[in-house]
Amino acid sequence: MGKIIVAGSINMDVVVTADRHPAIGETIAGHEVLFFPGGKGANQAVAAAKLGATTTLIGCTGADAFGHEARAFLAAQGIDLANIREVAGVATGTAIITVAAADNTIVVIPAANARVSPADVSAVTLAPGDVAVSQFEIPLPAVTAFFVHARTAGATTILNPAPAMTFERKLLEFVDVLILNETELGILAGTELRSTDEDARFIDAARSLQIAGKPSICVTLGKRGVIALVDGQVLTEPARVVDAIDTTGAGDCFVGAIAARLAAGDPLQSALGYAIAAASICVQRIGAGPSMPTAAEVTAVLKEVRA
Ligand code: RIB
Repeated sequence: MGKIIVAGSINMDVVVTADRHPAIGETIAGHEVLFFPGGKGANQAVAAAKLGATTTLIGCTGADAFGHEARAFLAAQGIDLANIREVAGVATGTAIITVAAADNTIVVIPAANARVSPADVSAVTLAPGDVAVSQFEIPLPAVTAFFVHARTAGATTILNPAPAMTFERKLLEFVDVLILNETELGILAGTELRSTDEDARFIDAARSLQIAGKPSICVTLGKRGVIALVDGQVLTEPARVVDAIDTTGAGDCFVGAIAARLAAGDPLQSALGYAIAAASICVQRIGAGPSMPTAAEVTAVLKEVRA
């Protein structure tokens, strides 16, 4: 069984709940304000660790109360924190999230996450069978150095290009599995995509990012499930129908679950259904980090599906 190394962001999520999102310039009354550990990198590491994978997180926090809370939470999930650097004089990353009718809007302040460097990501030892995971809430030079290091070591690499931004296509040469939603796919492929588009549009856009069928691509489409291009095949996996209350972190849960199954030796094809089941549990809970399911919870859901 390989281990998982995530290079990514660590945030404190400041979540407000309301009946609806305010329009621009509008003030509305909400219900409550809640604080949850979050950050795409940390969430993906938590998901993988709770699903039973040996997981290391590489990142930076500030030397402040949010940073200490985030560390305590991550340590309690059994994540190796030896490669998390505390940066003096900088705040821990913070996300301001509004949740209304199960949808969210997020503004992220990177703060200490912007300090993750190529040196930080190169300090970790990787081996064949390990899985390296990253996203775009840490600087691009660090992400690139991490994947070059992981590829040289023979590890499998997973990129979740979120939040969406344009980047040098060369980075994709170091990526084995690309996991992204329709907005991110649209930005990378240079086309406008909506969640209601026909499958063919997502497939064409995803194919435009591949060279000789690489990397494998999973397009996460929320309630519609996932469309994946794996080894020249198109796979579609429907989502589970559940009562979602907060989708924050569901994509991260999917990424962490795919990483956990690949590290356990599963092929990507069979990891998809498992990761969809994991994400369906996550969306039924409020908050990102604390909503990640355990392996036992996912197994119970999969048994229900098969019954
Ligand atoms: O993907 C969800 C995450 O995005 C939140 O936890 C928030 O911190 C932002 O990074």
